[in-house]
Amino acid sequence: MIQNDLFMKAAFSTNTGRPPVWMMRQAGRFMKEYWAIKEKYNFLEMVKIPEIAADVTMLPVDLLGIDAAIMFCDILVTAEAMGGELSFHPGKGPQFANQVRTLADVERLTIPDVNQSLDYVEKMIKIVLQRLNGKIPLIGFAGAPFTVMSYLVEGQSTKDFKNTKLLIHNSPETAHKLLAKITQVTIDYLNMQIAAGVHAVQIFDSWAAALSWDDYEEFSHRYICEIIASLNRTNIPVISFCKGSSVFAPLMAKALPNVISVDWNADLRNVKDQLPPDIAVQGNLDPFILYAEKKVIKERLYRLFERMEGVPGFIFNLGHGIMPDIPFDNVRYAVDIVKEYCPQAIS
Ligand code: CP3
Repeated sequence: MIQNDLFMKAAFSTNTGRPPVWMMRQAGRFMKEYWAIKEKYNFLEMVKIPEIAADVTMLPVDLLGIDAAIMFCDILVTAEAMGGELSFHPGKGPQFANQVRTLADVERLTIPDVNQSLDYVEKMIKIVLQRLNGKIPLIGFAGAPFTVMSYLVEGQSTKDFKNTKLLIHNSPETAHKLLAKITQVTIDYLNMQIAAGVHAVQIFDSWAAALSWDDYEEFSHRYICEIIASLNRTNIPVISFCKGSSVFAPLMAKALPNVISVDWNADLRNVKDQLPPDIAVQGNLDPFILYAEKKVIKERLYRLFERMEGVPGFIFNLGHGIMPDIPFDNVRYAVDIVKEYCPQAIS
């Protein structure tokens, strides 16, 4: 049993009272405690040493008092386990030395046994669960196939996804082979996390907004459908995140997630009202608001609360991750404001 079950109830659309709060990238560079650990280890070491990843996972639990923890890892570990030569460079983000652009490149990638190649994640989950001691739920996650594919194809972060789009448009069969492989590994990986004890899982399709509606349906959505349908999800809510969900939400709902995580372009209430009532929403404050003065932060939070008042199935979060230079004090202030909020009883 989880003592603070606000997040679980909201994810299953059965909550009352204030919304639960957690934030994407809540364990990261905006915290001086994160930098203290990073002085000793590089990012991939932090991810791969279970004790250290567990320490980082716990930072926002202890310092922010959020209602759900998210395991400290990265979406690209699946691609690395498949044979991608991954490294992280300060200021440049992730890089793959061996870009995947041809059928032969795709065929070289393997479908690993996740229990072996990603066993550090399983070990970290078990340590975190011990430390949480049933206080709040732990969220696991994986990247969506399209977003993971974009890193493998581009070899790095990109603004225009030119090579990824060239692949899907000129060689759709090769793209589908790659997406199918990533999908298989992602299913195994998320089911491993669930078996290890995570209470919920989130699928990050961070860059799907680069796609047209048709391409989203063919090269992203159908694989997310396959993943969600293949999860051992009894009592495990599935959150589908995509930057672009303000456009794609009606399609995302067809994959039958429990929660859709919404970017800040949309009016969250409008998105919610267009979804089947048993699908909750998560979001959707513009993270840049957290740079602003506290009175602005409070005013914008209350604007969102008022829009969502009386609606079960609302998890407070940002529309995307916390930026590294957002003042810690402002993040903490926003969490406190959500926790102090006392809505009228939900009818
Ligand atoms: O939310 C959390 O606190 C959990 C940890 C988490 C990280 N990455 C840690 C991280 C999660 C959920 C992710 C997912 C992730 N990784 C996504 C999807 C979420 C999103 O933001 O859309 C993506 C696209 C990645 C790939 C990735 N990893 C990028 C583009 C970068 C560089 C970002 C940058 O601003 O430089 C990373 C590195 C990364 N992942 C860091 C952290 C804390 C920074 C590493 C460092 O300390 O330098």
